[in-house]
Amino acid sequence: MEKTFLMVKPDGVQRQLIGEIVSRFEKKGFHLVGAKLMKVSTELAEKHYGEHKERPFFGELVDFITSSPVFAMVWEGENVIATARQMMGSTNPKDAQPGTIRGDFGVTVGKNIIHGSDSPESAEREIGLFFKSEELVDYTKLI
Ligand code: CMP
Repeated sequence: MEKTFLMVKPDGVQRQLIGEIVSRFEKKGFHLVGAKLMKVSTELAEKHYGEHKERPFFGELVDFITSSPVFAMVWEGENVIATARQMMGSTNPKDAQPGTIRGDFGVTVGKNIIHGSDSPESAEREIGLFFKSEELVDYTKLI
């Protein structure tokens, strides 16, 4: 079954949105298979955001994601990668539709509440960066 990596960013954690965000994915029907509240090290942040290394906002991005705790998660379900991206809304909250997480709660592109993998390759890479295989649970879904 497809898995994706989702992370409530420092702004989402500090605004007490973890429960709201987890609830949206649960109600949609996806299954949580890994989760942890953690501080992101500079080394992990630079690896995670490696593709943005040349962007002018790279330093700001790394400073922000390492500034205070994030809530890292792995979710499982059919088409979860693309569907989670739809539920998150556009990267820039000003373009995100009402009803999406960024549309409902975000204001600025830097502090946009949540990160989600954009492809199967990114999902595999990001899950591997944030979680050891033994930190993910495998269970028979009853529903
Ligand atoms: P995310 O999905 O975590 O992936 C890369 C992040 O870069 C993105 O969300 C935004 O938060 C951030 N980002 C994109 N453009 C800008 C920008 N112009 N200034 C600051 N941050 C940005």
